[in-house]
Amino acid sequence: MNKKLKIGLFGFGVVGQGLYDVLKKSPALNVEIVSICVKNKKERSLPEELFCYSPEDILSNKDINLVVELISDADEAYPIVKRSLELGKNVVSANKKMIAENFAELIQLQKDHNVSLLYEASACGSIPVIRNLEEYYDNDLLLSVTGILNGSSNYILTKIFDHNKPYNEALKEAQDLGFAEADPTFDVDGFDALFKLVILTAHSFGTIVNPEGVLNYGISNISDFDINYAKEKGFKIKLVGQVERLENNKLSLFVLPRLVNRDKYIYNVEDEFNGVVVKGLAYDKQFMFGKGAGGHPTGSAVLSDITALAHDYRYEYKKMNYYTNLDYDKSGSIEIYLRYKNESDLSKFDFASITESYSGPLYNYKVGLISIEKLLQLKNDLRYMDIFIAVTGKTLSY
Ligand code: HSE
Repeated sequence: MNKKLKIGLFGFGVVGQGLYDVLKKSPALNVEIVSICVKNKKERSLPEELFCYSPEDILSNKDINLVVELISDADEAYPIVKRSLELGKNVVSANKKMIAENFAELIQLQKDHNVSLLYEASACGSIPVIRNLEEYYDNDLLLSVTGILNGSSNYILTKIFDHNKPYNEALKEAQDLGFAEADPTFDVDGFDALFKLVILTAHSFGTIVNPEGVLNYGISNISDFDINYAKEKGFKIKLVGQVERLENNKLSLFVLPRLVNRDKYIYNVEDEFNGVVVKGLAYDKQFMFGKGAGGHPTGSAVLSDITALAHDYRYEYKKMNYYTNLDYDKSGSIEIYLRYKNESDLSKFDFASITESYSGPLYNYKVGLISIEKLLQLKNDLRYMDIFIAVTGKTLSY
């Protein structure tokens, strides 16, 4: 534990500042932030000499043995993380998009250069979900991981449902509080949750899934009509990511809004909190709950990775050797609520069966079974249509 960690930090936004603050509360830890690389000069609370403006200043500094990457742009983060690993520096990152999109290569780089890349802060903020999936749920019992993985959209849904706030006002609050991504589309259209789900899938089942091939749809089209529908039936609407091991030893995964009954653990997960339900044979369900966004909660997950590196911890990606052929499968069907206005939009959805149907002056809806493959074909168009979709959660057909 006494190996001195000399940190080169990239980014000093909400999470960078959060890390700086929580590090100050951990005086026993033998670490030093040597340099902080930021894009632009501006008035900051820390001495100017701590900042640099070229990544090379950190990458070429042989004193720095740990790179902490906390910038929001995945394309900017990728070469920094890659070069750091190639140079033999351990890396801590919170960049879920960068990790999910370059997963196989980042794992290979760790092996090739005998270094460690840790990213607990990339999924569910302060909840230690990756480390637990990797270490504790390291056997055949694990069946599914389901959860609220995005703090901003959960914050917005809470404000809409419980406080009758307009969507845009709630989104603005999530941004002002530092929960939302630089481009909040990431949060509200389910991309952030998708990247997190891809990361959780690798540590749950050892399968690396290309995020582009996975269905994600968020809450940006939610309307009062949908909220009233949910309230009348005693549901809340939550944005939920789920990966499940199917009976044919395949994996199903998607991110979709869900009508959540009050008997579910995630029903009471509010504001920027995240909640992850782990389901397995023998133990049924377990529930992890905590703050999923914000500088200090996320900074605390980064701190935990830094501490782990002081003990030379690395992910072994155990499930990749443990399971074989747990491939991603899109052939299942799910029951959805589809609210629509135009018949031309409805006609794009090829329901296998319909159990509920309503036509009204403003909107119509159908509840019915639809194949995931069909929804995937529409994935890039869904958020531009005058519709809203939510999984009923009642009948996953597998
Ligand atoms: N924008 C993310 C969220 C931050 O709202 O969950 C934490 O990953």
